[in-house]
Amino acid sequence: MKTVGLASDHAGYPLKEVLKKYLVKFGYETVDFGTHSTESMDYPDTAHPLAKAVENGEVDWGLAMCGTGNGMAISLNKHQKIRAGLAWSVDIGKLVKQHNNANVLVLPARFITEYQAKRIVKAFIETEFEGGRHQRRIDKIPC
Ligand code: RB5
Repeated sequence: MKTVGLASDHAGYPLKEVLKKYLVKFGYETVDFGTHSTESMDYPDTAHPLAKAVENGEVDWGLAMCGTGNGMAISLNKHQKIRAGLAWSVDIGKLVKQHNNANVLVLPARFITEYQAKRIVKAFIETEFEGGRHQRRIDKIPC
């Protein structure tokens, strides 16, 4: 069974709970790295465990969210093997897989609806990486 790791801060927590159930419809098992309530917390505390799980293959890919998505994306992308892409529309959800082969999809929980979030996640899941010139560009990312 394919596995998705989930991480959020307090701002992303309600959306994380919705998407955790939504992912089951696609046949995914989920591993939840927190947070587990709307109590204020610091997004790196869940971003880094998720990043490590993606890097070591414990999960196949990750789904992360915070208020804007930026705190999560910035923290996740500190990890050499992580390509975390922030998506706020269906088209960007597709392109972040097609062109960037993102291994973590990041959502701005305070700026999209649950309906939009589900559509973005579906688009990400159903899109394939294009490879070719995009692989060459990805190969140049590690510094
Ligand atoms: C929390 O208030 C907020 O700063 C956080 O969710 C996120 O937007 C940070 O990037």
